[in-house]
Amino acid sequence: MATLQAIKYSRGKLQVLDQLRLPHENHYDDITTSEEAFDCIKSMRVRGAPAIAIVAALAHAVELVNGSSSAATSPEETIAHIDSRLDYLKESRPTAVDLSNAITLLKLAARAARVEGLAHPEAKEAILNAYIAAAENILAKDLLSNMSIGSYGAVWLQQQYNATPARKISVLTHCNTGSLATSGHGTALGIIRTLHARGLLEHAYCTETRPYNQGSRLTSFELVFEGIPATLITDSMAGALFNLHRERMNIGAVIVGADRVVRNGDTANKIGTYQLAVLARHHGVKFIVAAPTTSIDLETLTGAGIKIEERKAEELTQISGAVVNADGTIDPTKTARVAIADQRINVWNPAFDVTPHDLIDAIVTEKGAVVKGADGRFDFSQVMPERW
Ligand code: MRU
Repeated sequence: MATLQAIKYSRGKLQVLDQLRLPHENHYDDITTSEEAFDCIKSMRVRGAPAIAIVAALAHAVELVNGSSSAATSPEETIAHIDSRLDYLKESRPTAVDLSNAITLLKLAARAARVEGLAHPEAKEAILNAYIAAAENILAKDLLSNMSIGSYGAVWLQQQYNATPARKISVLTHCNTGSLATSGHGTALGIIRTLHARGLLEHAYCTETRPYNQGSRLTSFELVFEGIPATLITDSMAGALFNLHRERMNIGAVIVGADRVVRNGDTANKIGTYQLAVLARHHGVKFIVAAPTTSIDLETLTGAGIKIEERKAEELTQISGAVVNADGTIDPTKTARVAIADQRINVWNPAFDVTPHDLIDAIVTEKGAVVKGADGRFDFSQVMPERW
């Protein structure tokens, strides 16, 4: 079966699916420079913590293949060139830690390729090759990570509920954490895919996820594309859904992704995640964060240290979409931008919020599900012993 692919890459060529045009139009942008990648990330044509990091890393790899470091005449200058391009890309979006974790790793890979006594241009070539290999490895590893998160998450939920194909569970997810937010399969949506593939999923609910509508535009699209039984609700309907869950909906868990999980487990994710966690706790529904270890930031101790990106007012006061014909069909060639509020109103538009760790039941990584110890704290030494 065809799969949705946010990022298409072969050495020297990077194409990124324009998610602003989804679900109506499948258009890939060629990304050839760091500037193009910066703009693509900032404008959210690509979004999702892992996908942002992958696009930034590969855009610079493409740029290097195409000779962007040609002025560098020594290993020092080559490394300085790589550093300055990565430092520039790091500013594209501040909250997701995957990008800065990827940048740290890429800088180390470039430095590790410096061989004492090797002359220019061989020394430079070794550094460029190491950078490109490390960037390509980020792409390859992400897919493996997501498959593993899917499996650990499905097993954890199955055990919590003794789920079987005869006794399936339903889940709610927020934002988009699927193939479109990653190199493939997804994190939270990856768990939902795996539950479905194992015959354990009754139904998936996805929130609209205002204001950018990742849920209605992207997650609904992925769920429909894969034939997963699913229903879209607005963000404001979650409480009503949970209220009915015991007798009718049987919601086993809320499963969300993460942009940054800090040392105590506090988690920054798409705006609206926190209120879902509060509602889930109130209704006795498990709340699970699915996050690769590349989304974990052990240097920041609590959620108070996370910088939350604020975005422009137009995301709330205007909306764009494809034109619906009089007969109800969609004309993908015509898009319209529509005002949906008085354009003079003051707007507050934080892109993310922080869910405190005490509202989270498990953080599922590619190395296993992390749960709280007797002290009520998450212990990431289980999955990141080298950085703990
Ligand atoms: O603003 P976005 O669309 O980049 O926000 C995306 C999210 O909040 C996701 O939940 C998170 O990045 C995890 S994606 C696997």
